[in-house]
Amino acid sequence: MSSFENKKNAKEILKESSNSNANFESNFKGISISQNPNMNPKEEEDDINKSNSDIEVNITTYPLKICFTGNSNVGKTSIIQRFINNKFDEEKITSTISCNFETKKLKVDPYTELNMQIWDTAGQERFRSLTASYLRDSNGIFIVFDLSNKKSFDDLASWFEEIGKAEINQKNCVKILIGNKLDSKEKEVDNDTAKKFAEEKGIKYLPVSAKDGINIVSMFEIMGDACLKVIQKEENDEDNDDNDGNKIIINKEEIKKSQNSENKEEIKEKEKNKINLNNKPLVKQKNKRCC
Ligand code: GTP
Repeated sequence: MSSFENKKNAKEILKESSNSNANFESNFKGISISQNPNMNPKEEEDDINKSNSDIEVNITTYPLKICFTGNSNVGKTSIIQRFINNKFDEEKITSTISCNFETKKLKVDPYTELNMQIWDTAGQERFRSLTASYLRDSNGIFIVFDLSNKKSFDDLASWFEEIGKAEINQKNCVKILIGNKLDSKEKEVDNDTAKKFAEEKGIKYLPVSAKDGINIVSMFEIMGDACLKVIQKEENDEDNDDNDGNKIIINKEEIKKSQNSENKEEIKEKEKNKINLNNKPLVKQKNKRCC
């Protein structure tokens, strides 16, 4: 909840109680508000504002490296420009030379934000040999084709090949297939074909339009969300490791085993005692009989 909402609620609570002169205390989402009957309304408001400004929210920022790949002219730069500056250039001015990057923060919730470093790699064939090095250490990769250009779709295999060569965590790096120019009237690739291709690769597919701004924010939100899940899972896995890098679960197994062996010993001991205990009455009975 924003401090603005807190402030508003605190004021409302105080307003409601203003008819009563009795001391008033309320807890609102863990924030305690006390009304002092000796304060005038202005002092009260200053007091609330002061206490609200004291509320600190710890925001965790996750840096993410997100890369774009795909043929020249599919609209990689246009998608990034639409996302960062919310603008679109109808005329292509220049092709990307080797690579550029931009940054943008994306808020996930009041406590979490993503600092996205967005890398726009060149689609031209002459820069192809550099692609794998730009993709290095990416958290996520958008593989873009043009829905109005069949060749850009057919060439996707070679982009997956480049991704395969890159020094990335192949399992954890999030890949999303993007079909740009959804607005185009003359489509050469249909969404079902693209979706099927993505499914075969085990990744998501999203049709977008940089021109009309369709699905542009969503594609970054989906990517951010997926990357964050991977990072948080990795963090959890690290927390479950012991100092020697072993999984605690292995230690738990060990404990289980040792507990079992202790149990076995205990059980053996108990069984022995049981036998002894059983023996005693038996002996007694024997004795009885003998007598
Ligand atoms: P390289 O930098 O050479 O790799 O190209 P790129 O993939 O970055 O393509 P770019 O963003 O430069 O766009 C190429 C052309 O496609 C430009 O003329 C854009 O105006 C146009 N374009 C980009 N996105 C769209 C879109 O969503 N719809 C339509 N109709 N045209 C688009």
